[in-house]
Amino acid sequence: MTLLRSIREVWRSRPTIEGAGVHLKRAFGNQEAPRLDPFLLLDDFRSDDPSKYLPGFPWHPHRGIETITYVLEGDVAHGDSMGNRGDISAGDIQWMTAGSGIVHQEMPRGNAQGRMGGFQLWANLPASHKMMDPRYRDVKRSEIPEVSTEGGAKVKVVSGRVNGVQGPVRDIVTDPEYLDVFVPKGAGFTHPVKRGHTVFAYVVEGSAYFDQGRDPYARKEVGRNYFDMERECLCGPESLVHYGEGDAVSITAEKAAVRFLLVSGKPIGEPVAWYGPIVMNTSEEIRIAFEEYRNGTFIKHR
Ligand code: CO
Repeated sequence: MTLLRSIREVWRSRPTIEGAGVHLKRAFGNQEAPRLDPFLLLDDFRSDDPSKYLPGFPWHPHRGIETITYVLEGDVAHGDSMGNRGDISAGDIQWMTAGSGIVHQEMPRGNAQGRMGGFQLWANLPASHKMMDPRYRDVKRSEIPEVSTEGGAKVKVVSGRVNGVQGPVRDIVTDPEYLDVFVPKGAGFTHPVKRGHTVFAYVVEGSAYFDQGRDPYARKEVGRNYFDMERECLCGPESLVHYGEGDAVSITAEKAAVRFLLVSGKPIGEPVAWYGPIVMNTSEEIRIAFEEYRNGTFIKHR
């Protein structure tokens, strides 16, 4: 029997400043990550004020994680220690496995209207893969299939499978699914997810019911990030919806159209030692990483 997942908790992303002074909204980070294993962080960098994003993310290292950058508007100019240079443009995804280490910079540039938009997700790597060779999947907008479902939703499949259509990003360690879902007003979207996997949705715009039970989730409060909304779980923009266990999720857009990211992945279940852009299993591994960064031996791959 299919068990529809209900909402475990909901909160809204909150303002923070990162890089060289980029104002963004953090949907989750250090504080919530233990509950969202294998995911570590989700940043929402939508902005219409260039002074808030142009400072960018100048040269910095990563080790032990994957960063997934999805650009909605504008471009992110990217360069790294492996000699890669390029733009991530509107609709494109860059799936970067830092593995043993890269040093890169990510510089957002707005579109002609001065608007910038996108998301960066961090996925952890298990101990067995933390020191793997770095790799990239640069996925252009045109390579991401869009599937229209019977229920009326339109789904861009970055990673995972919808109605037999598989996304271009494959063979990732934590078996992630990454979907960009649009549901018009009055329609719905039901999607199978693997039991045991962590599943969350992040509302880009609009609102929807993410839980068919529509329980007042106030009863399920466990954290301090809750915000007052209607007693029914109608989730609006910048809501992070963390699901409980089950085989499928079901979303209905009764009051407005909704666009959201739906992401799932297999928990790793290992200790996490995290300092800034480097995430390992032990504090000794963190110490070594920063020592190597200082003395110029950080980069292992040529
Ligand atoms: Co970075």
